[in-house]
Amino acid sequence: MTFDDAIKALSSDALKLVKDDFVIGLGSGRAATALVKSLAKLIKLKDYNIVGVPTSLQIKLIAEKGGIPVVEADQVEHIDVVFDGADQIDSQKYVIKGGGGALLRENILFSLAKKVVVMADKTKFVKNFTRTIPVEIHPLARNSVTKSITKLGGQAQIRALDRGYPFFTENGNIILDCDFGTIKNPKVLSQKIKQTPGVLESGIFLRKPDVIYRAKDNGKYDIL
Ligand code: A5P
Repeated sequence: MTFDDAIKALSSDALKLVKDDFVIGLGSGRAATALVKSLAKLIKLKDYNIVGVPTSLQIKLIAEKGGIPVVEADQVEHIDVVFDGADQIDSQKYVIKGGGGALLRENILFSLAKKVVVMADKTKFVKNFTRTIPVEIHPLARNSVTKSITKLGGQAQIRALDRGYPFFTENGNIILDCDFGTIKNPKVLSQKIKQTPGVLESGIFLRKPDVIYRAKDNGKYDIL
């Protein structure tokens, strides 16, 4: 039994939250992909009339392949439930997002959602955040935001693809991966990052999930 088995098992449980006529936020990444594949099977089985709102082209393609109708975030008034993965979850239940670069759309969906469900493997659970914080910025603000991050005590690095080309988000922006060491007060740090001109989104999300699934490598999971 593996982590993937656990994700499949918890996806079936998480999907019990889905009802007919729901508007469902579709996160990005591995956990969200497993969930969306199970969702595609569920809506066929139950003949549900749902729409999915994707957070990236990555998950939009998975949804389309599974026959899930998709609309964009500006076409809906609310989202009933959003299912997403996470890069790290601290003991206060704040999450770091944006490892795949979809943080801006992910946070818009979190803000629209009546319920936020996050699924992650146990290695991502920490007392205090330790990994870099993805920060989406306008490309012209790269020097000014880098200086601001340094003033806040961090070290910013422009995210690059394997061959050294800068990574561009689907919104035409770039990402600074910012190392702050161990983060004891994520709320204050996120607020300060977001106040910086040129910053479009911080990877520390202030909307805490309503339900968190923790997948284990023995194929089992628990709910926090
Ligand atoms: C996308 O930008 C991210 O926020 C992902 O949701 C996050 O990286 C988790 O992805 P995995 O489920 O692939 O670990």
